[in-house]
Amino acid sequence: MASRGGFNSRIGFIAAAAGSAVGLGNIWKFPFEVGDGGGAAFVVIYLAFAFLLCFPVMVTEIAIGRRTNKNPVGAFTDLGHKNWRIVGILGVLAGVLILSFYNVVAGWAFGYFVEMLMGHFTIGQNFGTFITDMVKVGSYGVLFMVATALIVSRGISGGIERASKILMPTLIVMMLGLVAYSFTLPHAIEGIKFYLLPDFSKITLPVMYNALGQAFFSLSLGMGALITYGSYVDKKENIVTSAAYITLADVGIAFLAGLMMFPFVFSQGLEPTGGAGLIFVTLPGIFGTLGPTLGILVGATFFLLLSFAALTSTVSLLEVPVSYVVDEHKVKRKKAVGLVAGVIFLLGIPSMMANGYSGFFSHFITYLGAGKATDFMTFIGHIASDSFLPLGGALIAIFAAYVWKKHNLNEEIEQGFPGFKGSLGEKYIDFAITYLAPVVLIIIFVLTVLDRFFGINYF
Ligand code: PFF
Repeated sequence: MASRGGFNSRIGFIAAAAGSAVGLGNIWKFPFEVGDGGGAAFVVIYLAFAFLLCFPVMVTEIAIGRRTNKNPVGAFTDLGHKNWRIVGILGVLAGVLILSFYNVVAGWAFGYFVEMLMGHFTIGQNFGTFITDMVKVGSYGVLFMVATALIVSRGISGGIERASKILMPTLIVMMLGLVAYSFTLPHAIEGIKFYLLPDFSKITLPVMYNALGQAFFSLSLGMGALITYGSYVDKKENIVTSAAYITLADVGIAFLAGLMMFPFVFSQGLEPTGGAGLIFVTLPGIFGTLGPTLGILVGATFFLLLSFAALTSTVSLLEVPVSYVVDEHKVKRKKAVGLVAGVIFLLGIPSMMANGYSGFFSHFITYLGAGKATDFMTFIGHIASDSFLPLGGALIAIFAAYVWKKHNLNEEIEQGFPGFKGSLGEKYIDFAITYLAPVVLIIIFVLTVLDRFFGINYF
């Protein structure tokens, strides 16, 4: 499909998809989920979900995309009944909603890069002031959305592929440097122990569904981002090995993020359960203890890294609704990008104001049975990432196994992977999408909805 464009090389596709996967989810969210979830036990559960459950769903998404050459809405319509387009629409909506708040946090990360360059190490204590400064948060938000839109408007090979091929390796190098540095700190070993020695008594039901939710969000699954990227992939590519590289890169970088973070945290005698503030509140002070020169160098590198990781993810979040508008409504790419990015930015404004600036958005909704009000940004996260993604993942698996049918899926995978049919890999993927993923994901979806919206948790 020359008119839609496509990836130029295998490595370009892998870099872009890994770029989508690796983001705030890995570097910001993963360490605090591990901290809250009791350390190494959470890591073990997370890894098991990533490889056993998420990986087959990833293969399926890429195969659906490549088979149809379409955005998620077009893809489900092509392969199934028209009614299945609802799964694609759910994905497009999830992309729009997630990007609306993700862009705000990405803007904070870039803002912190600037603060670090200026040597403002006390920014951590002033996090509350920073995120209510609408001039700063608004400007960084605009900047981030414009950067994302510029890359997406250049199309697949010239924009997304090229940016990812530069940003991903840079990110890995910066990260390895920071990990090596964190190991040299006093008490680093305690952090490493907390992170790597599992205490299995810490595994509870909420820990399990947080781990699965985290794996889904982190691997960019359940909303058709990989259907969209898959639609630009050549038939001679091996989908299974590509998905394996993407999963490994994502899990590997989340793992490195933890390896870097816990020595930092323990070296300062801080609690690993610092929550969402772990990066924005705790880290700048730690960088400050390194002295002005090294502190600025390490601190600025860290937040630049976080911004790069976020950028390759915001690009994929924007590409999902953009490809939908381009394919289904026949709008030119540049115009579609301007339109969609503009709408998403506007939708993100309440999220910008939801962290203390506006009382209304900071205490937006009180769920049934909940003691306290939830802010708008968290509320959108509960809907889009915590609920839509597992639901989308379940529906994608059910669709492939029961509607499109496994033999068609396997045939698509076989292209680029001769010998796949009849292999153990085929059997496992078939089992995972027919039984494992639908059952587990529906259970998780129901539990999450009960927990998040009704305050009911069974454990
Ligand atoms: N995987 C990204 C992260 O971990 O930050 C977030 C994300 C990107 C989720 C794209 C979903 C998506 F389609």
